[in-house]
Amino acid sequence: MSATNQPNTRPTGPLWLLAELTYRCPLHCVFCYNPVDYKTNTHELSTAEWKETMKQARALGAVQLGFSGGEPLLREDLEELVAYGHELGYYTNLITSGIGLKPARLDALKAAGLDHIQVSFQDATQAANDALSDTKTFAKKLEIATAVKAAGWPMVLNVVLHRLNLDHIDSIIELAVKLGVEYLELANTQYYGWAFKNKAALIPTHEQLKHAEARVAAWREKLGNSMKLLFVVPDYFEKNPKPCMSGWGNVFLSISPDGTALPCQAARMLPGFEFPNVKTSTVEHIWYESDGFTRYRGDAWMKDPCRTCPDKAKDYGGCRCQAYLITGDATQADPVCHKSPAHEKVIAFVDAAQRRDNPDDYLKVQKPEQQALANTAEVPVVWYRSDHNSLHLSKQGS
Ligand code: FES
Repeated sequence: MSATNQPNTRPTGPLWLLAELTYRCPLHCVFCYNPVDYKTNTHELSTAEWKETMKQARALGAVQLGFSGGEPLLREDLEELVAYGHELGYYTNLITSGIGLKPARLDALKAAGLDHIQVSFQDATQAANDALSDTKTFAKKLEIATAVKAAGWPMVLNVVLHRLNLDHIDSIIELAVKLGVEYLELANTQYYGWAFKNKAALIPTHEQLKHAEARVAAWREKLGNSMKLLFVVPDYFEKNPKPCMSGWGNVFLSISPDGTALPCQAARMLPGFEFPNVKTSTVEHIWYESDGFTRYRGDAWMKDPCRTCPDKAKDYGGCRCQAYLITGDATQADPVCHKSPAHEKVIAFVDAAQRRDNPDDYLKVQKPEQQALANTAEVPVVWYRSDHNSLHLSKQGS
């Protein structure tokens, strides 16, 4: 038996600690990966509990610390947590919509030693940005991105791509150029949480993707080293699965707002797990001993086709959450894999997406003010992430 077949071989500690400080968020994005029933989970760790968690994870070797959410700026102790992370020697990263990032807070975050800020936009125009987030936030985001740049951080912009904005790829890149962005992450939607719920509206056509990829290649040529453009093809269009989280319990430790420790942000929905909580377990126990982190570590848990696949050391069987969402069984191969017996389901999702209406018409129909109307229908065209919808979906058990 090879070393990778030993589930209990003591792994190295986590490299990445993701602190999901809160599920609260001023935006209502249709592609949000937070749990669809987040409103049933409103408890948040205290400042002291977050600090203790950060200290313990650092002692195990974690070096990267991401502050995320929801919107982490909604936590008033963000600056204090950043300062503590900095003092512990982490490389600190704030993942934010930017809403709430006033000049005084920027100064305070700078003084706290924050290394990196990633600001998200939903699209390149006010109409599309605001429709996709169901808020009037585009103008504020422009101000904030400019202020972040002026404060001396590298300008890192994130735009989640999908059927409704892929055709605007040139305007999105032009916006990034105008803002002096150094790193533009064009992140094609991963279908978890609200995005999975809304996948019928978000999966693009092959033609859209092909066009966007060609435009990104042309812009790379034109911009040279002045801007780094990252463009990752969405999972469902691949034949091989992504090495999700670089392997379950291998490098990534996510702590959700209430202290539940997860091997990835989406794992909370997996049935049959009692994920540990930093309020009652040490990070060391969580990482090395808990069922939540060890069950799918290594490859002893794999069934065929993964078990005998030469690629298992590269892709770790893909994504457990995707396997569960599509097959109802997290131990199956990721259905994105062409060897998975459920791969045809992924093909069916993508095939169905080839036959839909013009995305721009769709956005016009789905103006925020129409959402209330849309959600009174039994099956709305799109579910905006909102407290009301979260409660509604949790009642449905969705
Ligand atoms: Fe949970 Fe991939 S998102 S394992």
